[in-house]
Amino acid sequence: MTDTASSNPALVPFDGITIALSKGRILEETLPLLAKANITLLEDPGKSRKLVFPTTRDDVRILIIRATDVPTYVEYGAADLGVAGKDVLMEHGGDGLYEPLDLKIAICKLMVAEPLNSGPTKDRPKVATKFVNVAKKYFAEKGQQVEVIKLYGSMELAPLVGLADCIVDVVDTGSTLKANGLMPTELIASISSRLVVNKAAMKMRHELIQGIINQMKVAVDEAQA
Ligand code: ATP
Ligand code: PRP
Repeated sequence: MTDTASSNPALVPFDGITIALSKGRILEETLPLLAKANITLLEDPGKSRKLVFPTTRDDVRILIIRATDVPTYVEYGAADLGVAGKDVLMEHGGDGLYEPLDLKIAICKLMVAEPLNSGPTKDRPKVATKFVNVAKKYFAEKGQQVEVIKLYGSMELAPLVGLADCIVDVVDTGSTLKANGLMPTELIASISSRLVVNKAAMKMRHELIQGIINQMKVAVDEAQA
């Protein structure tokens, strides 16, 4: 039998800090902030099928996972730190994570949108979204009855083909809505990405984690100046 741990470096016990990121805009916009803490990937995740990446710091490694999975990895301690959109954190819910730093990246808005030519609001409109919990809470607080339909992407399509009357999704430039004959109607929340921290790790590895937070904060402030 092969020794799995020695043949797969990802399984070798790691006593440093593990950071969970998602590919795409969060990875691209977080790397310059991590560089301020001397954390740079040794390999381009865009050119690799690996999911665990060493960095220029022996005591820091990076996991590349789905954006929606980041809060789960951090809450359960599989990662000590992570970066997630506020939309994803609102949907994840609960108080299982610390959220010590607004990274002010991946800025967008979580909105309700509907077709340009939609008629009067129905008694119980159908809302298509991947943010099921957020949508239910938002409409419940407004006292509006809705039927929420869970989708995993391309929400803008749903009203075009009669699957839903409106959507809840993130909007940045508005060009995706416009290209699909939709318009934003209600703002649910302004969104940016946040650094999240596992609660136990924040206590046990305080000095190491606080050092990374402080250095990233300097980078965030510099980017805003
Ligand atoms: P998953 O792959 O798990 O479905 P995703 O496709 O939503 O995730 P990204 O598109 O990389 O992942 O988005 C990551 C985060 O960036 C979102 O949670 C949101 O906070 C923000 N975001 C999404 N779309 C935009 C956009 N068009 N402009 C700016 N920020 C955005
Ligand atoms: C996001 C979101 C919208 C779009 C909004 O999609 O789901 O479709 O951005 O941005 P806009 O207002 O600037 O058009 P993304 O680009 O992340 O693609 P995906 O989620 O479908 O992968």
